[in-house]
Amino acid sequence: MEKKRLLTGDRPTGRLHLGHYVGSIQNRVKLQDQYECFFFVADLHMLTTKKEKEDIIASRSHIKEMVLDYLSCGIDPKKSTIYLQSAIPAVYEMNLFFEMLVSMNRLQGLPSIKEMAKNAKMDIETIPFGLLGYPVLQTADILLPKAHVVPVGKDNEAHIELARDVARRFNQLYGDFFPMPEALLGEVPTLIGTDGQGKMSKSAGNCIFISDDAKTVEKKVKAMYTDPNRIRADVPGTVEGNPVFAYLDVFDIDKAAVDGLKVRYRQGAVGDVEVKEQLIQALNTFLKPIQERRREIEMEEGLVEEILYDGTLKMVEYGNETLKAMKSQMGLSGTWNKISRLARDRKSKGL
Ligand code: TRP
Repeated sequence: MEKKRLLTGDRPTGRLHLGHYVGSIQNRVKLQDQYECFFFVADLHMLTTKKEKEDIIASRSHIKEMVLDYLSCGIDPKKSTIYLQSAIPAVYEMNLFFEMLVSMNRLQGLPSIKEMAKNAKMDIETIPFGLLGYPVLQTADILLPKAHVVPVGKDNEAHIELARDVARRFNQLYGDFFPMPEALLGEVPTLIGTDGQGKMSKSAGNCIFISDDAKTVEKKVKAMYTDPNRIRADVPGTVEGNPVFAYLDVFDIDKAAVDGLKVRYRQGAVGDVEVKEQLIQALNTFLKPIQERRREIEMEEGLVEEILYDGTLKMVEYGNETLKAMKSQMGLSGTWNKISRLARDRKSKGL
């Protein structure tokens, strides 16, 4: 039986962090055998907010770092297709067709678009057309290989909903063609940042990166926020919402030790230093094999590029096939075919 297809992408904004890992990467690695997988670098989406030439050039190193992160976390190019979005012509074309199927209202009402407008210090009326169209382009990504499942963070759930609406609309207008894609949320959909303030994100500067070495992890954990009301080790502390415990819950495989620490923390019978030591150990144990794999891949010059190249070429083909079938279903290719046939007939008669 044919496997269902799974697709997801990341903007090339830099190295991936633990938030990416728990929100999505972990799922991807797990699901590689069950699904036919597509993972891509969303460099066109980056243009919605960063379009200067310097940004584009700077993104090249980010692209490489990201693919290295994918591979070192266990995404296997033999099982999964890894590709560069901007090199797939069919994405641009599909995007146009889908633009016809979405209203401005629908896009302007999306919390994610409001958020992006706010971050760009613009209001919803004056943002670029392309930024408003971000979820439409995302729909093109998803429907290009007719994906069934899309692992994303919670903030992207509404975009998958939109992709479903578009797919449904297309199917209504032109006949059954696309499956209904579904969002797949990670076990810990949003991971709190090291500052305990909000979710882990590069712009907030509260990240631990997958590629951070043991020393960096140690430094970052030591600087982490804990319970702000706890001024001494003998004051009972709060575990809930405490980022150190949030990470222990996710990354420490020794659940009994973590439970023990929680009990003592609540009683005011353990210092932050000991809890953080446990976390440093846990994180570095978790990251070690990932970083070893990273070094192995990095040693092979051109390997990352070759993987990305092969995946992209495969996707160009794949995309063109879907697009061709899609245009045919819309009746659009018939228009051009008929014109060309008649024109060629006339030419061949020497008229
Ligand atoms: N919107 C995603 C993000 O927040 C990136 C993305 C672009 C994506 N196209 C996609 C995710 C398609 C899943 C499927 O970074």
